[in-house]
Amino acid sequence: MFASLSLGLALLPFVVGKTWDVQVGGPNGELTYTPEALSAAPGDSVVFHFNPKKHTVSQSAFATPCGLKDGGFHSGFVPVAANSTVDTRPTFSVLVNDTTPVWVYCGQASGTPASHCGAGMVFSINCPSGDAPNSFDNFKKAALAVGASLSAAAAAATASATATDGSGGYGYGAPAASPTVTAAYGGITIPAAPSATVVTVPITLDSSSTWTTVYTSYAGSPAATPVAAAGAVHTVVVGGVGKLTFTPDHISAAPRDQVVFQFQQKNHSVIQSSFADPCRKLNIDNSSAPAGFNSGFFPVDNTTTDFPTYTITVNDTAPIWAYCGQKLPSSHCGAGMVFAVNAVDDGPRNFTAFQNVAEVLNGTIAGAIAAPSATGSTTGTTGGALSVRVSGGAGAVVALIAIAASLL
Ligand SMILES: *[C@@H]1O[C@H](CO)[C@@H](O)[C@H](O)[C@H]1NC(C)=O
Ligand SMILES: *[C@@H]1O[C@H](CO)[C@@H](O)[C@H](O)[C@H]1NC(C)=O
Ligand SMILES: *[C@@H]1O[C@H](CO)[C@@H](O)[C@H](O)[C@H]1NC(C)=O
Ligand SMILES: *[C@@H]1O[C@H](CO)[C@@H](O)[C@H](O)[C@H]1NC(C)=O
Ligand SMILES: *[C@@H]1O[C@H](CO)[C@@H](O)[C@H](O)[C@H]1NC(C)=O
Ligand SMILES: *[C@@H]1O[C@H](CO)[C@@H](O)[C@H](O)[C@H]1NC(C)=O
Ligand SMILES: *[C@@H]1O[C@H](CO)[C@@H](O)[C@H](O)[C@H]1NC(C)=O
Ligand SMILES: *[C@@H]1O[C@H](CO)[C@@H](O)[C@H](O)[C@H]1NC(C)=O
Repeated sequence: MFASLSLGLALLPFVVGKTWDVQVGGPNGELTYTPEALSAAPGDSVVFHFNPKKHTVSQSAFATPCGLKDGGFHSGFVPVAANSTVDTRPTFSVLVNDTTPVWVYCGQASGTPASHCGAGMVFSINCPSGDAPNSFDNFKKAALAVGASLSAAAAAATASATATDGSGGYGYGAPAASPTVTAAYGGITIPAAPSATVVTVPITLDSSSTWTTVYTSYAGSPAATPVAAAGAVHTVVVGGVGKLTFTPDHISAAPRDQVVFQFQQKNHSVIQSSFADPCRKLNIDNSSAPAGFNSGFFPVDNTTTDFPTYTITVNDTAPIWAYCGQKLPSSHCGAGMVFAVNAVDDGPRNFTAFQNVAEVLNGTIAGAIAAPSATGSTTGTTGGALSVRVSGGAGAVVALIAIAASLL
């Protein structure tokens, strides 16, 4: 009795695990984790030391080396200045809970040809030995294959977009925009749109259904990893008693996902706009460019519980910007009632920046700002989008081709 009690105490709080140190990124900007793999016991800690550049430590699965695992750990993007001293650099720790293999990748430039993961920046804890099917070597090969496919698809899609688009292409591969542009009205300066990249990702949903998704993307936007062929459904509450908000006000969604806007009190709408011109319809000054979606107004009285809805389908991972068009008794958009899908959180065009532009242009100080002129708009233009079955028959290989220009 006494002996087993002391054994129990010895096993519980007094076991202190070993600490393993891993360098994230090399001293000269190499896209590596060092070491690449290690074996650790339950209770051990793995401490990741971030080197200059901007990397992540994100958990994936063996089968999907470059995508965040559901519920997996994620350090977020950790920028480190090139001139920082080693002892001031940030770290991220992961506790080892058991001996099952843990797969890790860097999420920087995810889904683009510049993907760090696609360049082989992967890591593993407790991976099986060299000749096993799920060895570290095979994991790294799978990551490199993702990178190769992203690069090849970007080149192929650029060619085919130009060939199939009657208007002569949407300008993929155009040089990066200048760092700032001036808003359509109001004379304020805002961050310019980043360049879009076209990417292709093959997705196997079950043994009988492989999809190849081609979509436009931006550094930092999410990967196209739908949970089902139909896509996921995101519900967004619009308004509500005493509320001028979209809840949630920004979401991350994959191509083929649906966003269901549920209109609550009082009388709101959801209209697509652009980052540079948050409170006016997309392409308002250009009738030859697509106008974007517009739900119209949904007046909802304060006793209703059966709320009307309006649904949009997400076609790619380029950001979608939207606002409530109600101006009575005062501008809802100017009060910050705006919404975004796939805004890049750690970039200059993040959701908060978008909301600020809306509040500055149409908010309480809007009276001081001159009305827009019909010309000189810097509103982004939007391309079309289409879904194409690229190969019929039993294989069920379908491509969702989303062709879009600067959706920002
Ligand atoms: C690193 O460089 C930046 C900009 O060049 C400078 O502002 C900062 O003080 C430098 N930091 C150190 C620790 O030298
Ligand atoms: C171990 O468990 C902790 C607490 O639940 C969790 O934060 C951590 O990510 C887990 N470690 C791994 C390698 O999954
Ligand atoms: C209007 O949109 C079309 C199609 O997107 C584009 O080719 C054209 O340059 C735009 N015009 C202006 C004035 O921005
Ligand atoms: C809802 O708002 C729109 C735009 O302000 C207005 O035209 C419409 O009459 C309103 N509907 C109701 C029922 O108040
Ligand atoms: C609903 O609206 C009516 C008329 O506008 C008002 O008298 C009533 O107090 C409101 N009820 C609630 C719960 O807000
Ligand atoms: C996605 O594509 C469909 C079909 O072309 C279109 O109706 C829809 O408006 C697009 N969604 C967005 C958010 O642009
Ligand atoms: C925002 O302000 C512009 C310029 O005054 C105006 O044209 C537009 O209708 C306003 N939009 C909203 C939703 O308040
Ligand atoms: C969000 O955008 C603003 C304005 O461009 C910028 O100052 C801020 O640093 C951005 N936030 C993040 C987390 O990058």
